[in-house]
Amino acid sequence: MPSNSSTTTLRDIVRASLKTLQEKGVHCIPVDDQARDILRTWFSSPPPTTSRNEAAELSSPEQKIDYLRRRAVNWSAARRLGSLREKMVFSVGDVHARLVLVGEAPGYDEERLGEPFVGKAGQKLNEILRAMGLKREQIYITNICKFRPSMGANQGTANRPPTPEEIAACLPLVLAELRAIQPACVVCLGATAAHGLLGGEGSVSSLRGVWHHLADQLPVRVTYHPSYLLRNESLSARRAVWEDMLAVMEQLALPISEKQRRYFLPH
Ligand code: URA
Repeated sequence: MPSNSSTTTLRDIVRASLKTLQEKGVHCIPVDDQARDILRTWFSSPPPTTSRNEAAELSSPEQKIDYLRRRAVNWSAARRLGSLREKMVFSVGDVHARLVLVGEAPGYDEERLGEPFVGKAGQKLNEILRAMGLKREQIYITNICKFRPSMGANQGTANRPPTPEEIAACLPLVLAELRAIQPACVVCLGATAAHGLLGGEGSVSSLRGVWHHLADQLPVRVTYHPSYLLRNESLSARRAVWEDMLAVMEQLALPISEKQRRYFLPH
């Protein structure tokens, strides 16, 4: 809330109005692209900063990612929300990877083992990577939210997707990871990751099939989350994901056999 009327800015007024709406139970409002960019600039947490000495040390992607991992543990923007669980689950993979996958948030298995995509969705993801001729170790896997979203004391193994506030709190970390790694392209797994990284809304089916660009530069593809394929084993769902992955393989100039091109087509 604005502290005193003589210093009230438009940003204070917007913040107060949004807070009032949120208290009334409104969690989603329509905004155009320009408004969304302004809101992001105003309310996203600042990117992780480094002191001059630290910056001089951080010359390699390994050092940058290691620094981000350490910063993420006590990431105050996320902790402040009080809606995320204690344990931070950082990314995994090759910091020199040309492909970065962005998931949603750690679930029960990921929190337990401290690594993204190690549960059933992770096994499905490994299958997809194998079909592409890739191993997990060759790519970099991150989540748009680095903490398992909390569902209270009796959560057990249940998981929920992160809220827009939880995503906004962690987004500076993800953007800093992408700046450190400088991949050739990114794949958002599911709508939550896509909305978090690219902004906007829309279903996966409306976002997939084309290249988006982060900051007008980095090519980003959106596809279904592997857990969607666990729920929907139809040939058409598997083919849709596979076509997205073929586009990624083409982007990375990976070899594609005729057999691979025909995966999941009806016989
Ligand atoms: N789903 C995700 O989006 N990320 C994980 O790390 C695990 C499951």
